[in-house]
Amino acid sequence: MWVLGNVSLLLGLMDSLTSMLPDFPDNYASPKSLVEIQRVNAAKEGRFPDDFLFGVSTSAYQTEGAWNVSGKGESIWDYATHNSPETVIDNSNGDIAANSYFMYKTDIDLAKQLGCNAFRISISWPRILPTGFPNSLNPKGIEHYDNVINEMLGRNITPVVTLFHWDLPKELQDLGGWANPLIVDWFVDYARIVFKAFGDRVKYWSTVNEPTVYCVYGYGGKMVPFVNHSGITEYLCGHHMLLAHAKAHKMYNEEFRQEQKGKVGLSISVPWAVASNPEDPEEVAGADRWFEFWGSWFLNPLFGHFGDYPENMKNRIAENSLKQGFPRSRLPEFTTEEISMLRNSTDFLGLNYYHASPVQKYLNYNVTSTVSFFGDIGMLEVPANENGAAFSDRSTPWALVSTIQKINKDFEVPMIMITENGYWDRGQLADIGRAKYYHQHLSELPGLIAQGINIRGYFAWSLIDNFEWSVGYTQKFGLFSVDYTVPERTRIPKISTKVISDFYKTRIIPLFLWSLNEVEFDINVGL
Ligand SMILES: *[C@@H]1O[C@H](CO)[C@@H](O)[C@H](O)[C@H]1NC(C)=O
Ligand SMILES: *[C@@H]1O[C@H](CO)[C@@H](O)[C@H](O)[C@H]1NC(C)=O
Ligand SMILES: *[C@@H]1O[C@H](CO)[C@@H](O)[C@H](O)[C@H]1NC(C)=O
Ligand SMILES: *[C@@H]1O[C@H](CO)[C@@H](O)[C@H](O)[C@H]1NC(C)=O
Repeated sequence: MWVLGNVSLLLGLMDSLTSMLPDFPDNYASPKSLVEIQRVNAAKEGRFPDDFLFGVSTSAYQTEGAWNVSGKGESIWDYATHNSPETVIDNSNGDIAANSYFMYKTDIDLAKQLGCNAFRISISWPRILPTGFPNSLNPKGIEHYDNVINEMLGRNITPVVTLFHWDLPKELQDLGGWANPLIVDWFVDYARIVFKAFGDRVKYWSTVNEPTVYCVYGYGGKMVPFVNHSGITEYLCGHHMLLAHAKAHKMYNEEFRQEQKGKVGLSISVPWAVASNPEDPEEVAGADRWFEFWGSWFLNPLFGHFGDYPENMKNRIAENSLKQGFPRSRLPEFTTEEISMLRNSTDFLGLNYYHASPVQKYLNYNVTSTVSFFGDIGMLEVPANENGAAFSDRSTPWALVSTIQKINKDFEVPMIMITENGYWDRGQLADIGRAKYYHQHLSELPGLIAQGINIRGYFAWSLIDNFEWSVGYTQKFGLFSVDYTVPERTRIPKISTKVISDFYKTRIIPLFLWSLNEVEFDINVGL
């Protein structure tokens, strides 16, 4: 047949058709473009689409060091680790960390060796604006990130940049930080400076990293900045982060989008909670509520139909608040204008996913005497065992699949990037647990893409061992080990680099025989 005999002609025609198609929004509800069909077809054959971003993730405070170098201001983590070192398990800090401020070329080189075509970093707000306010602009901060971004682009690596990855300027915390509604504009002022400085080259922006984790622990008394008014401040923090994100997105639309044509999203850690006792219907309902309070809390305002918190969450907090003698709900309300700003304010969801978490009923919770975020859920986390999770294995790839399928079913998410996925251990180079973890999780993605779910990128957390917040340097997430005993901070590849580079370089699911478990790996095999 003519058509069969002219496949290359037909493909050529398809290419030119593709380029003629109007620019559809990145949304699978819209008519499918040929590019989208090609992406799904590749995934059906077990291949990752040609435009898939394969990367690694890091953040400023966890890797850069150089805490007081070249005009950088003090962050809340600098302040906390210097003044209350006992709040970090090993009394450590990020003063030097992995020294990535000076070693960024080495890090980008390692990412290149892994086969990355993308790299997710964060910008330190106090390095750009030492006081947090725009009148304190530090040109050396701009220069540093210019160098980092240019180095990436020079090596064909797409930068994905987070604006707030927890290292708030200390002076803004003195004014209440994320509990103060004025931070919405402080954040927008900072975002404008960053978009203006780097937006000609950076096309993927994540406004805030893991807002729910930061707000629940940081504003529930358990982590820096240790604001301890549970049941009140978590919701204030979340409310203002949602508005800061949406207002920064609006500002990008108005001032930058036409010229810069980037995407502005955010990275949310969405948990997959599992009832400890699956036979107990109350506990199963509690696990659903956990998803609502930790996931839908942010997903519903940004990707739900109504641009607001979930109804059930609003009702529970309102009822509990009344029982506790509050004249109104502890959960703030959005105005009509805020709701329309929140809806359609997110070009992509950055999904941070680690492992499934078992949850249990909050027994003996006295609602009249105790105001608490976890009391509002009526559930608690099952305390971790020495293995770091109540599950014996921290590799639960089925939960990644369930999480993505649920998000895809319940919300209108235009595009997903997995902006963090990773596994910690104590730092051994023969990191079989991490190698298996990456193989298992990456292997699930083509199947999800083949179902029509618009997943466009995957970022392993993390490139290198780094400062892991309250657990300091005791939990290691790196594909490369960092020798923290020497000033050179030497990077050494672990076995898991082999798995990651096989995926990233071949763009198919590589075959690994995990029965090789007990075999001595040659750890010098490298990449
Ligand atoms: C920066 O901090 C280090 C400690 O990490 C200290 O030794 C050094 O003197 C400080 N430098 C400046 C310029 O303050
Ligand atoms: C936080 O407040 C609760 C209740 O008021 C108290 O029991 C707890 O000790 C406080 N935690 C810290 C770290 O101050
Ligand atoms: C949603 O936002 C995009 C840009 O982010 C814009 O092109 C589109 O028109 C908006 N859609 C609606 C319904 O407001
Ligand atoms: C709950 O707390 C209230 C107020 O402190 C107290 O009056 C009540 O007895 C408590 N209920 C239980 C069951 O302990």
